[in-house]
Amino acid sequence: MFIVSTKNCLNTAIEICDKSDFHLIMTEVKRFPDGELYVRVVESVEGQEVMAIGNTREDGEALEFMLLLNALKENGASKIIAFLPYFGYARQHMIYKPGEAISSKVFTHMLSEYSDEIITINIHDNSTKKYSKKKFVVISMVKHIAKYFSHMDIGLIVAPDDGAMEIAREAGEILNVDSRHLDKKRIDSITVSYSEARFDVRGKNILLIDDIISTGGTIKKSIKLLREMGANRIYVGAIHGIFINNSGDDIAGMCDELVVTDTIYSRYSKVKISDSIEEIISEVA
Ligand code: R5P
Repeated sequence: MFIVSTKNCLNTAIEICDKSDFHLIMTEVKRFPDGELYVRVVESVEGQEVMAIGNTREDGEALEFMLLLNALKENGASKIIAFLPYFGYARQHMIYKPGEAISSKVFTHMLSEYSDEIITINIHDNSTKKYSKKKFVVISMVKHIAKYFSHMDIGLIVAPDDGAMEIAREAGEILNVDSRHLDKKRIDSITVSYSEARFDVRGKNILLIDDIISTGGTIKKSIKLLREMGANRIYVGAIHGIFINNSGDDIAGMCDELVVTDTIYSRYSKVKISDSIEEIISEVA
């Protein structure tokens, strides 16, 4: 099978090819003088099954990925699999305040228009799947994060809010450890507050786990609270490390170890997407 990548996922595409019989095909991406984006698939994809890999974190990345999918479709690919390690625009999956757009709905409609199947890793909220007209698979990398910490004598898994409880439970099953969540209240897009937790962490090594770290506000406040509560070591794991304003460095300085996957590459990407290659291949076969 062919694989084609946007610029932001090229390393992952190369690693997938190294561990499988995917063949990487190249693209030409440039901007016209007026700033508009141009995408071309350099080799013929006529009659081929192709997996397109790309992150959609920023507007330009999202547009590059959509144009890449369209290039495959216009040039005769027989099956197009859209693989988004980080599915951007998934965090607004419902209306919170009157008048809002549902970005995950718009985005999923566009993806399913230009592809035959969508695959992503730990999407912010699984309800986004209902917006797709095509097969939509979410692969979880929580097990790899949990296994990374299997020698750290973890005594409790903590989710920073109830939304992250599903991944905390999943990690708990791997490590055979209980999981609990903190009570978070979001004040605005960068500020959160916590009420006192009703469980005991005194003397325990904690794995604090979340799906996304963006500004880091959630994790930083959680670490502070767990320290005040008397936790021993605090390890932080997350699937996607966006790390706005170098928040990864701040968090690493506050905890015993920070580990994320390489869905968005950073120095804290100690778990690799290519570790899930068998699962990815079984979904596209
Ligand atoms: C929220 O629902 C998510 O699970 C994360 O807790 C949140 O997106 C993290 O954002 P930030 O790092 O900006 O607090």
